[in-house]
Order: sequence, then structure tokens, then C-alpha cells
Amino acid sequence: MSREGPPPYSVPIVSEFEGRHTNLFAYPERGPWGNPRYPGNFSGKFVLDLVDLYKSRSVADPFRGGGTTEGVCKEFGIPYWSGDLRDGFNILEDALPPCSDGSSPDLVMFHLPYFDMIQYSGRVWGEKPHPADLSAAASLDEFVRMANEAQYNAYSHVKQGGHVAILIGSIRRQGVLYPLHRMINLYGELQLDGVKVQFNTTGARTPHPARNIALLVTEWVMVMEKPKSWIVPVRVAQPVREFDQRQSARQTWRSIVLSALEACGGSASLSRLYEIISSHRRAQQAAADNVDWQAIVRRELQEGGFQSIDRGVWRVT
Ligand SMILES: C[S@@+](CC[C@H](N)C(=O)[O-])C[C@H]1O[C@@H](n2cnc3c(N)ncnc32)[C@H](O)[C@@H]1O
Repeated sequence: MSREGPPPYSVPIVSEFEGRHTNLFAYPERGPWGNPRYPGNFSGKFVLDLVDLYKSRSVADPFRGGGTTEGVCKEFGIPYWSGDLRDGFNILEDALPPCSDGSSPDLVMFHLPYFDMIQYSGRVWGEKPHPADLSAAASLDEFVRMANEAQYNAYSHVKQGGHVAILIGSIRRQGVLYPLHRMINLYGELQLDGVKVQFNTTGARTPHPARNIALLVTEWVMVMEKPKSWIVPVRVAQPVREFDQRQSARQTWRSIVLSALEACGGSASLSRLYEIISSHRRAQQAAADNVDWQAIVRRELQEGGFQSIDRGVWRVT
């Protein structure tokens, strides 16, 4: 199929799986297809590997960017269609045109912007931010909403039995990590949940000022199959929720003591600890059962990684 022998073209990082398709993708040499200077471009070898894995007969790419998918498909005679907001195609609203052989696509390459990590409209192309540009979304919530809409639209145009392949990376803002791949819905039956190693990225090249922050050098690959024509299985992303451990009947006494001490800044008197812990669900249950929970607290202080620093005063060790 290729200039370099048969797929897979991903470098076999786990050598025993050489020659097999895995969920670990790595393309240190991106290959000649598309514009290698288009910000955020991927390797055409990634497209070829997915085409080979899923035996896709036609490919659509609604996030054309530098034209990588188009370049690969042209060279290997794979029927294709590609478009981009830059050229007037809006995946949020428009129907996907048929591929070059007149067919609906077997595979959609869904390589959306990673929110505003690279701002496309107004920076890479165009005079000003475009309201339909996913990289110009007003907020992260808005980006997630747009990404879900776009993904549903792409999915709905795939042939039954076909696939949508999403490639997306995480972003970090003010030290907070946002795993975009866990924040978007997934439409269809998940067939592959994998990792793609990033080469030649600005983020990884620029040393991060904080040394204890790991550089982000992977992207996430999810491939969904379309099993049915009307009914769409959706894996709905859950927002982050918090729960108050003081309501938990499962928190251990050692952990309760640790939390209480940490809530006091790391150290506290025994009487203060009793006061704090008395509102915990386990303490209230113990009191109702006539169990001496204060004795349990004292035992945990002596046995569980805590230190007496003064008479009746304890701290986390
Ligand atoms: C990560 S890039 C794709 C790069 C491409 N895979 C390549 O190899 O060059 C994402 C693209 O999505 C486009 N885009 C953003 N919002 C869009 C929308 N609503 N409809 C279609 N394309 C959009 C951007 O203009 C940008 O070119």
C-alpha cells in the first residue's frame, strides 16, 4: 500500500507487537502528505493505519487543516472528501458532502482543535475569530458543547458499520489539567481507546517553569463504530463532582483523623479534633450505637502516622 511497505506505520514502541495494529500510535517521521507547517497537523501515516485497520473504503475529514487526509487519499487512490471552516465548510451545521466516488464515508477523521491551544480563525487564517470556530469558543464549556454537536453531525453521516476516529489532546490552564478526551461525549460503540505520542510540538519543546509538572506529550485516540442507522449509543461525559467525606459511612477512622488534622492546617489539639470529628457521619453513627468513638480517634492518633508534638496536641507526620 505504501512507499515503505505494508501498514501499520506506527513505530512499534512495544517491540513484541511489531507488525500488529495496537492502540499506541507513534509517527516520529510525519511523512510528506499535507502541509507540515499547518499548526496542529497530524501524520498521514495515522490515516493510513486506521484505513488499514478498519478496511475503510472512503474517508471524510471535516477538519481539513493542512490537507493531510486529502494528500494521503489522493496518493493511495482512496475516495475522500475534506473541508474546513477556513474554506467555508462548518461541521456544526453543514451536511458532509459525498466522497469523491459519490459514497458516504466509511471513516471520518475527527481532528478538532484542542479548544484554544491553537487559535485558528483570526490567527492561522482569516481576519478575526469566526463564531463557528471550535478554537474560538467563548469558554471551555462552550467548546465541549460545540465539540459534541460537531461529533454527532460527523457520526450521523458515516455509513452503518463505519467509524469516527477522534484525535484530541489535553490542555493545562493556570496549572489545572483539562483532559478534553474525558470531557466530550462519544457517539457510537467505542472500538479503540488509545494514545498517540506527539513529536515536534511547541508545548513539549518549551520547558515548563514548574519542574514538577509533566510535559504533555500524548494525544488521545478514540474510534467509534456506527452499529445502527437510527439509534445512537452515546457515552455521556460526566462533569467533575465533589463529595463531602463527612457524609461518608465508608471513610476509615485513620483517614477521618488525617482529614481533620489537615483541615486544621496539619496540627490540632485533641479537643479540637473531637469537636471537628463529632459532626462526621461515622461519629454520629458510633454515638447512636453507644460506641466510644473518641477512644477510636485516640488509638488512630497513636498507631496511624501521627505525632504528638505537645501535651494533647497532634500533627500529621
Ligand atoms: C487540528 S486542525 C486539523 C489539522 C489537520 N488534521 C492537518 O493534518 O493539518 C483543526 C482544524 O479545524 C478547523 N475548524 C475549526 N472549527 C471548525 C468548524 N466549525 N468546521 C470545520 N472546521 C473547523 C480549523 O480551521 C483547523 O484547520
